[in-house]
Amino acid sequence: MIDRILAKRIVPVVVLDDAESAAPLAEALLAGGLDIMEITFRTAAAEESIRSIATSFPEVLVGAGTLLTPEQAQRAKDAGAVFGLAPGLNPEVIKTARAAGLEFSPGVMTPSDIEAALSLDCKLLKFFPAGAAGGPGMLKALAGPYAHTGVKFIPTGGISSANLADYLALPVVAAIGGSWMVDKKLVAEGKWDEITRLTKEALAAAS
Ligand code: 3PG
Repeated sequence: MIDRILAKRIVPVVVLDDAESAAPLAEALLAGGLDIMEITFRTAAAEESIRSIATSFPEVLVGAGTLLTPEQAQRAKDAGAVFGLAPGLNPEVIKTARAAGLEFSPGVMTPSDIEAALSLDCKLLKFFPAGAAGGPGMLKALAGPYAHTGVKFIPTGGISSANLADYLALPVVAAIGGSWMVDKKLVAEGKWDEITRLTKEALAAAS
């Protein structure tokens, strides 16, 4: 599973207000060459959207983002999510995700966060908010003392096709995440062709 995320190196971060948009969005991403979606638990439609993708698109790796509570991690797993992420590190969420068999990446932004994650045996970490925290330069410096532990990062926050290559060039970066190619407005307006175009552009920038 992790290998499949890491192969494409891009995780689209999706916020869906309406679960009916999940299927056309998955089709638009697939047409662009991406078979991964992170659907964030920021809206009431998240759980149903994950269930709909897990049921109708077995070829899509569907994950849950913004898992802030153990209960959300369990609901995400029960809905069919195969991976989960959060902006921060909550040991209770990590424990529940692990017990449920949900691959989970907590979020970190400081050395202490990384050490807390390592002590809980988490080695694939979301670096958030990547751009505001200082971008690739910050991540490179932050990761320096920890690279030998095998820790890898998925920077997210403020990333687009214009700067993703700068992150992916770092050996500690496993993949990047971002919402730009699945922007809420594009989804609300049903601009599926534009989503496909932006997805292709992102994959080209990552290769
Ligand atoms: C996330 O949850 O990972 C971020 O909201 C995505 O950040 P972006 O919208 O700047 O890509």
